[in-house]
Amino acid sequence: MKLFVDTGNVKEIEALASLGILDGVTTNPSLMARESGDYRQILKQICQIVKGPVSGEVVATDTAGMIREGREIAAIDEHMVVKVPFTKQGVEACRTLASEGTRVNVTLIFSATQAWLAAKVGASYVSPFVGRLDDIGTTGMTLIREIVDIFDNFEYATEVLVASVRHPIHVVEAARMGADVVTCPPAVIEQCFKHPLTDIGLEKFLKDWEKAQGVKA
Ligand code: E4P
Repeated sequence: MKLFVDTGNVKEIEALASLGILDGVTTNPSLMARESGDYRQILKQICQIVKGPVSGEVVATDTAGMIREGREIAAIDEHMVVKVPFTKQGVEACRTLASEGTRVNVTLIFSATQAWLAAKVGASYVSPFVGRLDDIGTTGMTLIREIVDIFDNFEYATEVLVASVRHPIHVVEAARMGADVVTCPPAVIEQCFKHPLTDIGLEKFLKDWEKAQGVKA
């Protein structure tokens, strides 16, 4: 399963990329609004750090506007993926952009039928939002299982990109279900590294080693 980071912050991306664990980046208008500077420049910078798919989202809501913005985003760098919201206009824009060879990530997916329709028009990725489904009292991960099953049945090339991830359990479940990609906020990636027994174990190893050196001296 590929790991993308869900942020527009260059420093956070640099820190994770240097560990060698990052396969790509997702951004959205809310995340980009937190960063200062021209968003195109920021996306360009991100593409130079992570040589993998980097999603940049359109803000237009009409088909022509999404196509125009999508072409601009795609022109930033060869690694750019155009993110469009799942609406009728987004589906239409996806079909046009995909037919031009642009990779499209259809976002704000909350049902299996939405994912299926996006796959039919050539989306490279669908982004189902599991955390936001959990927030309304449903089980977000059930949607991932449904989409993975459907895409397997019909051998769609569209990748299932699990989004709105809130904790490492989402990550483990996504991997077990065979999702292609999980995109995590940096804080969740940090949690994936952590285990108190690792810290306690390392501390004990080092203490025992130091003690033994003192005895030998
Ligand atoms: C996905 O690409 C979105 O940017 C993101 O995962 C949304 O997550 P949120 O529900 O935590 O805002």
